[in-house]
Amino acid sequence: MSIQTDLQNCIEDMIDDSRGILAADESSPTIAKRFASIGAESTEEMRRQYRSLLLSTDGLGEYICGVILFEETLAQSTNNGQSLPQLAWSNRIVPGIKVDKGLGDLPGAPGDKITFGLDGLAERLVGYKEQGARFAKWRELYPITSHNPTPLGLSANAEMLARYAAQCQALGVVPIVEPEVLMDGKHDIERCHTVTEKVLRSVFEALARHRVQLELLILKPNMVLSGKSCPQQAGTDEVAERTLQVLKRTVPAAVPSINFLSGGMTPEQATENLNSLNQGQAPWQLSTSYGRALQEPALKAWGGSSNNGAACQAALLNRARLNSLARQGNYDSSME
Ligand code: 13P
Repeated sequence: MSIQTDLQNCIEDMIDDSRGILAADESSPTIAKRFASIGAESTEEMRRQYRSLLLSTDGLGEYICGVILFEETLAQSTNNGQSLPQLAWSNRIVPGIKVDKGLGDLPGAPGDKITFGLDGLAERLVGYKEQGARFAKWRELYPITSHNPTPLGLSANAEMLARYAAQCQALGVVPIVEPEVLMDGKHDIERCHTVTEKVLRSVFEALARHRVQLELLILKPNMVLSGKSCPQQAGTDEVAERTLQVLKRTVPAAVPSINFLSGGMTPEQATENLNSLNQGQAPWQLSTSYGRALQEPALKAWGGSSNNGAACQAALLNRARLNSLARQGNYDSSME
């Protein structure tokens, strides 16, 4: 198949009017934190068991169209010897891979961050594709302070996302472009609105500069929210209204799908906000690429014990179903 056909087929398999993406690509330090919250040790075997359990959930493919995996998971198999990417695809869930290598400080821009991993990316993508990955994910992180992100932070992070996306498309791997404006802080929703607008504008300028085909990527942004420690928390209507306004100002209609990260919202908030977003008119599909908001109840139900597999899968399926309803604007909090 040609590179262009690979990209188009992947987009067709992932753009869906009722399904969303599950982010299960926590890096080793992050999954260790999640496991510690339930008193489980993060060994390679435990991670394999947990992620096999998630992906073998019966019926998950009704609500989930893609899963973002961590490098280690791509090479792991179920107890029966089926590779985890194959297991996902047997449920019509497209397997993808997180390809960034974490982040550090951006020299010259105190308070801003930058993500590593462009060196050797082409070779790694070729290998991941052979292992079954059809799309990739790269995250740039933007903390909000009174002076961050700086103009340098905005341009440097946008450049990384665009170079990554162009590299993915050159090899027939659909890029998920994830500029995440962090929820942490006391700032109000107005500040998040302003920052998110600047971030997305700079990202789409860079994507155009690098000739990335907008029809063949997925955007994974934050919603426009009040800072986590802001005393005045905006409600779901305001979140949806401001998020849509920012997206309409900055994201070309050529982009097929916008799949939000959950970023620290509770599972219920994340579902409710997605539902409100789907009440309005938008030129793109609006769906999930949630990590915590899809997995939290499942992780708790599992508790690190193989005796709780059924409860873990039921909890995941329930959240996936509710988000599928929200994706269609048909969710109500009474369904919780
Ligand atoms: P959260 O939904 O937990 O924010 O995770 C999504 C993700 O993939 C972050 O990179």
